[in-house]
Amino acid sequence: MATYIVLLGPPGVGKGTQAKILSEKTGLAHISSGDLFRENLKNETDLGKLAKSYMDKGELVPDDVTIAMIKDRLSRADCKAGAILDGFPRTPVQADALQKLLVSLNGDVNVVPFITADPKILIERLSGRWTCKAQGHIYNEKFNPPKVAGKCDIDGSELYQRDDDKAETVTNRIKVYLEQTTPLIDYYRAQKKLIEIDGMQPIEKVTDKLLSAIKN
Ligand code: AP5
Ligand code: MG
Repeated sequence: MATYIVLLGPPGVGKGTQAKILSEKTGLAHISSGDLFRENLKNETDLGKLAKSYMDKGELVPDDVTIAMIKDRLSRADCKAGAILDGFPRTPVQADALQKLLVSLNGDVNVVPFITADPKILIERLSGRWTCKAQGHIYNEKFNPPKVAGKCDIDGSELYQRDDDKAETVTNRIKVYLEQTTPLIDYYRAQKKLIEIDGMQPIEKVTDKLLSAIKN
């Protein structure tokens, strides 16, 4: 049976950072809904154009198109053993849809690590975030700087700052998270799948905690 891990937590808590590391360590595919939207945006697809109008404001893209995008992604060959979901589901409607979808893939959500952090640190992390253009490796000018400013340590590609990391958009993303995504904490707690992870620790410590949560 395939393994599906859902990483839950606010913007900037470290979902993408950890999902990338966990994917390398476990061999499970990393599926980031935000990265998929950004890829569509770069390729100027209709989905990308639609998503942009929401992402620019820090609002959620409508459930139906988001669910269809994830359904397509989960059906690809690299997800045969399962996946680490980063940024999806984000609403109860998406969580219900995922449950149904995984039944059809002969799987289930196995564990939901819920990464937490002090809201003040989230804004600091996002305003200092730099992402690699080629493969999405994530840095922070203060907490996790690249060896050479502006260049990815791993593949040498250029680093960029996300458009939605502007202060006013970040504030709305956090508000939207509190209003629309936090109901999933109780949703997965009721299913006994939720494991709280302190995201205020250094990146490697958070990874260790996540790996032991996944193993158990
Ligand atoms: P998305 O791309 O998913 O953004 P997000 O959820 O707001 O989360 P982030 O990617 O900003 O944060 P993260 O937790 O991944 O943190 P990271 O590891 O980068 O979504 C963007 C938009 O797309 C949404 O606003 C919405 O419009 C749309 N969207 C996406 N999914 C959707 C869905 N399911 N439904 C509808 N719409 C959707 O780390 C942040 C920074 O902190 C980095 O600089 C990193 O180096 C640093 N850092 C990480 N961990 C640590 C640590 N332990 N200590 C110190 N620094 C750290
Ligand atoms: Mg992310």
